[in-house]
Amino acid sequence: MKKPFIFINSAMSLDGKLSTCERKQVKISNTEDFERVDRLRAGADAIMVGSNTVAIDDPKLVVKSGELRKQRTAKGLPENPAKIMVGSIKRIRMDGDFLNYANSEKIIFTTEKEDKTKIAALRKNAKVYVLGKEKTNINEMIDVLAGLGFKRIMVEGGGTLNYEMLESGLVDEIYVAIGPKIFGGKDAPTLADGEGLPYEKAIKLEPIGMEKLGDVYVLKYKILK
Ligand SMILES: NC(=O)c1ccc[n+]([C@@H]2O[C@H](COP(=O)([O-])OP(=O)(O)OC[C@H]3O[C@@H](n4cnc5c(N)ncnc54)[C@H](OP(=O)(O)O)[C@@H]3O)[C@@H](O)[C@H]2O)c1
Repeated sequence: MKKPFIFINSAMSLDGKLSTCERKQVKISNTEDFERVDRLRAGADAIMVGSNTVAIDDPKLVVKSGELRKQRTAKGLPENPAKIMVGSIKRIRMDGDFLNYANSEKIIFTTEKEDKTKIAALRKNAKVYVLGKEKTNINEMIDVLAGLGFKRIMVEGGGTLNYEMLESGLVDEIYVAIGPKIFGGKDAPTLADGEGLPYEKAIKLEPIGMEKLGDVYVLKYKILK
């Protein structure tokens, strides 16, 4: 089965933070960049986020432009890409936007340590895959997604999921919008958190493009394997 094309898109402050030390959803880029992100979403089969992002931001993860949604349906695609969450289901709000906003397909990858009753309740509204004892097995997750026919997957953070995806070697490209702000704070989430890599194992990148959208720079890189 062919591995889907996987790309990360994140917005960060100049000092590499995805949010402030309050770890709340904040506006980092600008309207032009939101339109670029909307186009990326419209071109994806699925949008993936980590469990902390769902717990904190409860994102809608939809294509905002009616025109782009219309173009998707004209191609025989669902109006919106599927929404994917990876991690613990403890803090998903059953009445929240991730699960309920729009008619998108919902897919959850979680682990054996989770509550079986909540898994059963979630299965009324989402596909739930239990992969791994303590930590979701990323390679198996991508195999499942390939099996479901997903060809293009957009990863939208947070920093822990970004790191795990990069470290797994499955990411093809990464796009970063740098907002003209500095947040600071050693506890603020960064573009790639997790355990970190020694220098010799650093993920190598090749720059493939740069765009200036008003006061935001968007940097694009291919991941060298
Ligand atoms: N600026 C942006 O573009 C952007 C985008 C998204 C989010 N954010 C911000 O980022 C912050 C959240 O980032 P975050 O790093 O705390 O969380 P995250 O990446 O959203 O979620 C991380 C969680 O995913 C779970 N997980 C599932 N499978 C995993 C695996 N194989 N390996 C490791 N973790 C796995 C772990 O929790 P479990 O214990 O649940 O398994 C982990 O704690 C928020 O402040 C949010 O607002 C910013």
